[in-house]
Amino acid sequence: MMRLDRFLCETGFGTRSQVKELLKKGKVLVNGQTVSRPEQKVDETRDQVVCAGTQAVYARRTWLMLHKPAGVVSATEDAREKTVLELLPKERRRGLFPVGRLDKDTEGLLFLTDDGELAHRLLSPRRHVDKTYYARVQGTVTGEHVRRFAEGVSIGDEKPCLPAVLEILEAGEESEILLTIREGRFHQVKRMFEAVGCRVTYLKRRSMGGVPLDPTLRPGEWRSLRPEELSRLEEAGAEAIKECTV
Ligand code: URA
Repeated sequence: MMRLDRFLCETGFGTRSQVKELLKKGKVLVNGQTVSRPEQKVDETRDQVVCAGTQAVYARRTWLMLHKPAGVVSATEDAREKTVLELLPKERRRGLFPVGRLDKDTEGLLFLTDDGELAHRLLSPRRHVDKTYYARVQGTVTGEHVRRFAEGVSIGDEKPCLPAVLEILEAGEESEILLTIREGRFHQVKRMFEAVGCRVTYLKRRSMGGVPLDPTLRPGEWRSLRPEELSRLEEAGAEAIKECTV
């Protein structure tokens, strides 16, 4: 048994405050009866809960979307630094780990899950799923950089990077860009720009596997993935595996 507001958060109907609003508006039915008390207990395995016309489906696995702030590390534990898991209340942390890593100074979308199988598919070492980053870069980014990234720029590893899509939003002494990459090499975005003589001064992940960061989440905030977001990740993971094996 669990509280109804928690059940609705965990099944992807929004943050605690969004869910409370839905309850207040009388949008939630439990076994056909309107319920507006967030503290009402439901049996997640038996009760039928319908929210704004959509049936809630309780999944055994947990997938959370976190807006990672700068200053925390993408780890489950760390002796010195604050970790991304410490942004969650203690009772929500059990078994969760970050899906890949963002640098301590990088912000943006980071998934947290206890689902090792799908996480592994999303991070399969030979080819990861698409990830789009917004960056501010010291130095003028040009069409030449777009071409070099599209060909696969060398960053000093054994192999050059896979082709990446660079979009220039603003070019000048400090440029603004969007970059979509498919791998997850150590400090990859920063090293790609270093390789062409520029320096990343701010980096934020906007999307991963076709799932964008929820713009209503402020840095440090998180929510459960919605069922359609989880389906997109599953599709993205399946595609990545197919491409790895051909
Ligand atoms: N590339 C980087 O350089 N840093 C990140 O955190 C993510 C991608």
